[in-house]
Amino acid sequence: MIAQGTAKQLRAAKESLTGSFLSGARRIEVPFGVLTCVTGVSGSGKSTLINEVIYKQLYAVFQDQRIVPGEHDSIEGSEHLTGIINIDQSPIGRSTRSNPATYVGFFDRIRDLFAQTDNAKERGLSKYDFSFNQKNGGRCEHCQGEGIVTTQLQFMPDIESVCPSCKGARFNNEVLEVRLKGKNISDVLEMSIEEAVNYFSDQSYILHKLNVLNQLGLGYLKLGQSSTTLSGGEAQRIKLATELGKLKRGSHNLYILDEPTTGLHLHDIQKLIDCLNQLVDNGHSVVVIEHHLDVIKVADYIIDMGPEGGKDGGTVVAQGTPEQVAAVDESYTGRFLKTVLSTGNRYWNEGVLQTNG
Ligand SMILES: Nc1ncnc2c1ncn2[C@@H]1O[C@H](COP(=O)(O)OP(=O)(O)OP(=O)(O)O)[C@@H](O)[C@H]1O
Ligand SMILES: [Mg+2]
Ligand SMILES: [Zn+2]
Repeated sequence: MIAQGTAKQLRAAKESLTGSFLSGARRIEVPFGVLTCVTGVSGSGKSTLINEVIYKQLYAVFQDQRIVPGEHDSIEGSEHLTGIINIDQSPIGRSTRSNPATYVGFFDRIRDLFAQTDNAKERGLSKYDFSFNQKNGGRCEHCQGEGIVTTQLQFMPDIESVCPSCKGARFNNEVLEVRLKGKNISDVLEMSIEEAVNYFSDQSYILHKLNVLNQLGLGYLKLGQSSTTLSGGEAQRIKLATELGKLKRGSHNLYILDEPTTGLHLHDIQKLIDCLNQLVDNGHSVVVIEHHLDVIKVADYIIDMGPEGGKDGGTVVAQGTPEQVAAVDESYTGRFLKTVLSTGNRYWNEGVLQTNG
C-alpha cells in the first residue's frame, strides 16, 4: 500500500502514481491556441510522443479510425479541435507532373486566365487544353506533358532526356502560341515564384498564394518545378504555405512539425517562425519538435523530454513557459534557455557566435 485517504490526501502523496495523476503532476499539457515546442536530447521520446501517440490518435479521431496510435492512457480535449495536420518533409507528390503551382492550387486559375484570352478563344482552346494532365488536349502527347522522355535500359538506371517533340515545353504548338501578357503557358511554368509575383500583380487570388510562398523563402523555385526534385525542407514549406494560403475562420487545427528548421538558414528560420505565428494568430494550435534555441525561446509553451536518450528518456522533465523551464535545473534545455533569456544571446557558446539578430 502506497497511499490512502481522501482525494486531497492522495494528491499530496508524492510516492503515489494515482496521486500524481489526481494532482495533475503527471499530465502532459498541450495548450491550445499557442505555439508549443517539444524539446529534449536525441532519443528522449519527442517524436514518439508527438507522432506516434498524439498525431496518430487524433488522426484516428478525425480521419481514419483504422490507425492504431502508440500506447497511452488517454488524450483529452480533441473536441476543441477541427482537425490534425502533420506538416512533414515527405515529398508533396510522386508524379513529375505535380509542382508548386498544382500543389498549392493556383495553377487552375492560371489555366482559366489562358483560356479566357482572345487568342485561345480564336483557336477554340479551352481550360482543358492548358493542362499537362489531360489526355488528347493541348499537352504534348509524345511526352504526355512531362517535357522529358524516359528511356529504360537493361541493367542500367533509366535515362531521362528532353522531349524531342516539344523540346521540354510540355504543350503542343497551338497552345504555345497563346500568350498572356507576352508569355505562353510554358514560359509561366518556367518562371520563378519571385518573378511571378510581378507578373500576376493584378490577380489577387494567385498573388496571395505566391506571396505566402515567397514569405517562406521559396521565391527561387519555379512554378512548374517537378515535386520529385524538391528537397525535404522545400516540400515542408510548400505544405505550410498551402495551409497559410487557405486560412479560414472558425477552424481550429492542430499542426504538427517535426524539426522544421532542419537545413534552414538562420534567415529562413525567422520566416518560418513568422508563419507558425500566423497559424496561431488565426486560431490554430501548433506543436513543433525542435532543437533550435531560436524557435524554443519564442515558443509560448515548452514540453521538455528526457532526461537522457533511450531507456533513460521518455519522461517530461519540465513544462511551461520558457521562463518556467529555464528555472528547472535538471532540464538541459532549461539550462541553455537560462543563458539565452538572461543574456539575450542567441548562442550559449559565449564568444563564439553572439548576435541579437
Ligand atoms: N518502435 C520502436 N521500437 C523500439 N525502440 C523505439 C521505437 N521507436 C522509438 N524507439 C526508441 O525510443 C527512443 C525515443 O525515440 P524518439 O524517436 O521518440 O526520439 P526523439 O526524441 O524524437 O529523438 P531525435 O531528437 O533524435 O529525433 C529512442 O531511444 C528510440 O530508439
Ligand atoms: Mg525525433
Ligand atoms: Zn513533349
